[in-house]
Amino acid sequence: ADPWGIYAGLAGSGPGPLCSMSPRLIRLGKVPASSILASAPSDKNLDAWRESGCRTTHCNLEVLQESTLVFLATKPHILPGVLQEIRPAVGSHHIVVSLVAGVTLQTLQRLLPAGTKVLRLMPNLPCVVQAGAMVFARGSGAGDEEAALLKSLLSSCGLCEEVPESYINIHTGLSGSGVAYVYLFAEALAEGAVKMGMPGSLASRIAAQTLLGAAKMMLESGEHPAKLRGDVCTPGGTTIHALHQLEKGALRATVMNAVEAATNRARDMAKD
Ligand SMILES: NC(=O)c1ccc[n+]([C@@H]2O[C@H](COP(=O)([O-])OP(=O)(O)OC[C@H]3O[C@@H](n4cnc5c(N)ncnc54)[C@H](OP(=O)(O)O)[C@@H]3O)[C@@H](O)[C@H]2O)c1
Repeated sequence: ADPWGIYAGLAGSGPGPLCSMSPRLIRLGKVPASSILASAPSDKNLDAWRESGCRTTHCNLEVLQESTLVFLATKPHILPGVLQEIRPAVGSHHIVVSLVAGVTLQTLQRLLPAGTKVLRLMPNLPCVVQAGAMVFARGSGAGDEEAALLKSLLSSCGLCEEVPESYINIHTGLSGSGVAYVYLFAEALAEGAVKMGMPGSLASRIAAQTLLGAAKMMLESGEHPAKLRGDVCTPGGTTIHALHQLEKGALRATVMNAVEAATNRARDMAKD
């Protein structure tokens, strides 16, 4: 019944990244719900997993005993204790995937048995609507097979790319936090329309659809955004007048500064 021959066990099962990914995986039939075992100390978040047809436990070791593919998704300060607890049960057949922010592959490898197949994954919020942008990096024990498995499983939740580990903090600055910059821009777009007389709810919906359409064209055409932007500019027209205002407000430099600030903050938090 399980086309992948794997069992996805989950130690740490919050409402965040894992819950957003797993229902999609289950719906697509990539992993049967009955093959997923989620673990957490309390039932607070486990109810949602049970409602999706998954099995749950309060025992992390049970996840290791039953699963080949194990996702770790606790808060960072909890993780060392969980790794200490599961370490004796981790074997060469396990693939351990950590979503825990700021915890490096080096740390994961140090706290797990030598040679463990470890991968580090960073999702973002739109995984909830299967339009996520995820990157992952593999540890020294993980090979092409494990990377291909993870990519194949998660591609149903959005874009999933393998990257060098040093890109993970940049991904946080670009995409994890970037979702909030885009909301700010959407809000400003809509407010502009409200100022000019359009009702707020209509303006918000049109702002969202404008972002969606622009993003879709960028992905589907593969064109550089500067080219697509140029295509919208009629000489002497409305768009170039508006773009001039955005340039006066230093939009580009401000957004680049934002990505830099979030990336540096992610790096600092990882050091802590
Ligand atoms: N939220 C996001 O969009 C996002 C994106 C990228 C990465 N991340 C990372 O993903 C991780 C989880 O985030 P979240 O928002 O889902 O956090 P969360 O809501 O706090 O969920 C953490 C889960 O871990 C469980 N837990 C606590 N101690 C445990 C233990 N000893 N063994 C097993 N499970 C344990 C908690 O159980 P209880 O329910 O019983 O407390 C809870 O269900 C964080 O490291 C975060 O940095 C989050």
